[in-house]
Amino acid sequence: MCGIVGAIGLASPRKYVEKGLKMLDYRGYDSAGVGYYAHGIKIYKDVGSVAHLFDEVAPKLIKTNIIIGHTRWATHGAPSKINTHPHISFHKKICLVHNGVIENFKELKAELEAKGYEFYGQTDTEVVGNLLEEQLQQTGDVFAAIRKVMGTIKGSYAISFFTSDDENSLYVMKKASPLVIGLGKGFNLVASDASPMIDHTNEFIELSDEEYGVITKDEVKIFDGNGKPVNKQPIHKDIELISHDLKGYPHYMLKEIEEIPQVVNRLMNTYYSDGKYLFDKKLIKDLKESDHIIFIACGTSYHAALVGGRYFEYYGKSTSKSIASEWAFHPTFPGKKPFIIMISQSGETADLIHCLDIIKKNKLKNLVITNAGGSSLDRNCQYSLLLYSGIEVSVASTKAYVAQCTLLAMLAAAIKKDKSCMTDMRQSLKVVEEIQSTYKPIIEKVANKIKNKKNVFFLGRSFDYFLSLEASLKLKEISYIHSEAVPGGELKHGPIALIEEGIPVIVFVTDTVTAASMRGNIEEVKSRGADVYVISTKKLSQPGDAIVVTDYRFYLSSIAISSIAFYLAYFVSLAKGLNVDKPRNLAKSVTVE
Ligand code: AGP
Repeated sequence: MCGIVGAIGLASPRKYVEKGLKMLDYRGYDSAGVGYYAHGIKIYKDVGSVAHLFDEVAPKLIKTNIIIGHTRWATHGAPSKINTHPHISFHKKICLVHNGVIENFKELKAELEAKGYEFYGQTDTEVVGNLLEEQLQQTGDVFAAIRKVMGTIKGSYAISFFTSDDENSLYVMKKASPLVIGLGKGFNLVASDASPMIDHTNEFIELSDEEYGVITKDEVKIFDGNGKPVNKQPIHKDIELISHDLKGYPHYMLKEIEEIPQVVNRLMNTYYSDGKYLFDKKLIKDLKESDHIIFIACGTSYHAALVGGRYFEYYGKSTSKSIASEWAFHPTFPGKKPFIIMISQSGETADLIHCLDIIKKNKLKNLVITNAGGSSLDRNCQYSLLLYSGIEVSVASTKAYVAQCTLLAMLAAAIKKDKSCMTDMRQSLKVVEEIQSTYKPIIEKVANKIKNKKNVFFLGRSFDYFLSLEASLKLKEISYIHSEAVPGGELKHGPIALIEEGIPVIVFVTDTVTAASMRGNIEEVKSRGADVYVISTKKLSQPGDAIVVTDYRFYLSSIAISSIAFYLAYFVSLAKGLNVDKPRNLAKSVTVE
């Protein structure tokens, strides 16, 4: 779960690596480092941010033909200076950066130690450097060394490295972690995703699993695991969708919340036109024919799965929804013709990739809904539907969640050719716009009231409960306040014991069928001293509600009013002076299990 950049032949290598690592620090930000060739291998690294590395540690001027950089989210070995990448091999022949996890590193380390290799840190990466060095010394052939090492190591890796006696060759190897090559004129680039490279090129090559290669300033050569050359066709990427520009916003999270209307509109225009849904006909046929749909996802995407599953149920499909890391260990396939829908903003979540292996072994039909074209899941699932939401940088997912719910609503409706969903969606967009233009000051006031609280509760039923789960995750993720989402009806079955004087309870009341019961819940918590903030729709509102929005169709809560939850988490985090976009202990792309 780390970010990699690399360049060869670039005129301003320091600038590229600094800017690139800053763009990739959504993948991890506990330490950062840079390695390059200038009369031998030079490495500068430290614990802390990319800004710290370039402001205080690395030289102000880096003149080199070859450079690699890394921003880390520690898996093996604490976030310390010695464990920070790049790593250098024992005899100082190899300088490398790695994203992923080498599962058998302990055995391999022991074997190398028995041969006299010494290790300075605790990472799995150092083992790969030493294995490459050992093989290189034995064979004198870098490609043979790479092939041997790829056959030895188990796990996931995107690796970029260079050797101490060749400043004109940048090597890459990849399995189950992303690595993209950017094609330039007189230079070439490498990165974990395309975004760091867009100032220099919009032509890219995406490495597939078990491919490796060598990059010089004028050439890129890729090989498959057997050493056969692979002819990779370059792809063009839409600059707008991969741009990291803050566009004047103070934080990515705020920018991304405010992009929600644009994101929903783009999806509606992409997958619907002239009264018709534009999904792949074979996909719709497979969905129609399946007798059970299994939704699999993690975190926020799982919350979208809960919403999406309910949509499909409304159209008569039987569904189940599972957290990927649970399903992976006890997979079940109800029905005779199960169909799997995986949901993942990043398309790289390791728990889901584990599930995909099982899905493939069992030859099950499958679809991924992802924001990341070219990601592991996008490439390896049978069907893929892209969210076209533009890159989501803030660790807290906002616009991608709304996009997932939007796309799921459209896909479910497409099965029955139900056009009313599009009318309802347009109405819910008006609510999003109303919240963004009118209710931010009220939400900020609520945020200031809860910022010093230790616990917060969110209550809702049905779709409002699914939204409560997401609101609660968002709040705890970036404000570090403990929060819980409770279905209104479950309150009396335990959680009400925690309701006491002054505890904030945020309640969503937007569903005619459940409104009366929710009002009952509100009385129950109020009478125990809770500070209650009700979010309701006009038709269901009562005096004293904190926010009353224009009516919308109840099943679109996750689209219409999730902005309220996102702003609330944002303003609390801001009021507490926390790092909104990069909360502690988390990373945007969870590429380790
Ligand atoms: C969302 O705010 C979280 N950062 C997290 O729960 C995230 O949704 C989860 O890790 C799943 O990621 P994915 O959608 O990229 O698979």
